Amino acid sequence: MKRQSLIIDCDPGVDDAVGLLLAFASPELDLKAVTTVGGNVPVETTTRNARIIRQVAGREDVPVFAGAARPLRRDPAGAGAFHGAEGLGDLEAVEPEAPAADGSAVEAMVRIVMAAAPKSVALAVMGPMTNVALALRAEPRLAERLGPVVVMGGARSEGGNITPSAEFNIWADPDAAAEVFASACEMVVFGLDATHQVRGTEERIQALEAVGKGPALTAAMMVRFSQRIERDIVGWDAAPLHDPCTVAWLLKPGLFRLTPCRIEVETGSDLTRGHTAVEFRVDEASARHLWAVEADGQGVFDLITERLGAVA
Ligand code: BDR
Ligand code: CA
Repeated sequence: MKRQSLIIDCDPGVDDAVGLLLAFASPELDLKAVTTVGGNVPVETTTRNARIIRQVAGREDVPVFAGAARPLRRDPAGAGAFHGAEGLGDLEAVEPEAPAADGSAVEAMVRIVMAAAPKSVALAVMGPMTNVALALRAEPRLAERLGPVVVMGGARSEGGNITPSAEFNIWADPDAAAEVFASACEMVVFGLDATHQVRGTEERIQALEAVGKGPALTAAMMVRFSQRIERDIVGWDAAPLHDPCTVAWLLKPGLFRLTPCRIEVETGSDLTRGHTAVEFRVDEASARHLWAVEADGQGVFDLITERLGAVA
């Protein structure tokens, strides 16, 4: 089996946690590192949470590197209301046994990607893009060297979820996102237009719960927590499962429909801070960005249930 090398940059976060569990359970992925960033909760907490999820998956072979504590130029935000005070919903936040690795997220990204064959390491980005922007500053050749940068972030037809015109990850560090989108990186982007089609319905949660043990139950706990919060805060019945779309695309690209585009990020306006301007009228041959316009929500949940069921 040809395995896809991968780094996951994340801010767990209940949906990040499900994305991590899916990656940990997928033998086609050679997960080189998990890097963390301040986002949903502070970076000390996202780093501990990544280690908790690694322990749940029994994958202490994968190093976790701590990254940026704050956005490039803005104050740290936080989305604790959607993830719980400790970031992992109802999961008890115990101190995991294995520590974080020595060295920073940025150093790890640069070292792993520059040592590998060109275009062979993909990067899945599930939080604010601070670490990625800092890595590109530290090593500009990274942009040409990286495989696909698979991002959860942004919104076009769905407007926003933190403000009327912006999605949280891009809004939290718009300056970093602007730098990364302007770089030579090839990017595959799952914004709210796609992730709002991937919802944790009661039936889908019950299918995960029916596995009865292991990481599937942890994932089910995350999705059920989101269901409760979504009903309380947003008034929708089933919560979107954003971050796992990045990993699901790497495993089964046919679950999504992508359109070539050019994406730019608003940094100058307070009103529309972090808005993603997604322009479809680009020359397909030169487009570096792909925007997800459609997602098979049932297919994504089936994939998660199958993979986590296989390691239970
Ligand atoms: C994104 O924001 C975070 O709260 C989630 O973890 C996800 O990465 C969705 O807008
Ligand atoms: Ca996230």
